[in-house]
Amino acid sequence: MIDTLRTERLELRPFVWEDLAFLDALHEDEEVYRYLGDGKPRSTELHRAWLERTIAQHQEGLGQRVVVHRGRAIGRCGIGRYYRSSVHDGARLSVTPQNEPSPWAPFLEMGWTFERAAWGNGFASEAANALLDRFTPRESEPLFAMIHGDNARSIRVAERRGWGPRQHATLYDRPMVLYGP
Ligand SMILES: CC(C)(COP(=O)(O)OP(=O)(O)OC[C@H]1O[C@@H](n2cnc3c(N)ncnc32)[C@H](O)[C@@H]1OP(=O)(O)O)[C@@H](O)C(=O)NCCC(=O)NCCS
Repeated sequence: MIDTLRTERLELRPFVWEDLAFLDALHEDEEVYRYLGDGKPRSTELHRAWLERTIAQHQEGLGQRVVVHRGRAIGRCGIGRYYRSSVHDGARLSVTPQNEPSPWAPFLEMGWTFERAAWGNGFASEAANALLDRFTPRESEPLFAMIHGDNARSIRVAERRGWGPRQHATLYDRPMVLYGP
């Protein structure tokens, strides 16, 4: 199980079922979801499946957390699991989302998503640093942030951490880059 983490300005707590409405509200904004996954609007049904997976991952010390600022949920940040094929299509790896069990090699994915009003305050970097500073790397599951090539803000978060582009990948036919330490 995971505990609640506190930083200078933020609280990072485990997700609970009552956060379903927060997920719906967070992903309502096209600016927020355009570079996530397939880039399409997200249904409550999808969020329910996402929550179930995330809460299950809390049992093994993983999963995204709710980021709270001054008592309000403003985003999510944490580590989930994806799978990558060993088959290269040119220089690109294929990646399957974490909700589709796969014989491919697992990897851990650091994600950060905040409501638009919270951008530009360093909250994503502060949350990511808090989580990464206490994360113990696993040899069998390398850690990356999988970022759409056009998602400049997210790339800056990875770069601020000192991460760089390590591998091109394809997710839902979209071009991604795996950033890592
Ligand atoms: C990706 C995302 C989390 C980045 O958010 P962000 O607020 O730009 O990132 P940070 O928390 O690192 O904040 C950095 C910015 O805050 C500014 N800032 C202001 N006060 C700050 C402070 N006290 N400390 C640090 N930075 C501060 C920095 O100058 C920087 O601005 P800049 O990038 O314009 O130079 C956000 O754009 C988002 O949620 N996007 C939609 C979802 C998404 O695409 N997620 C990524 C999927 S891979």
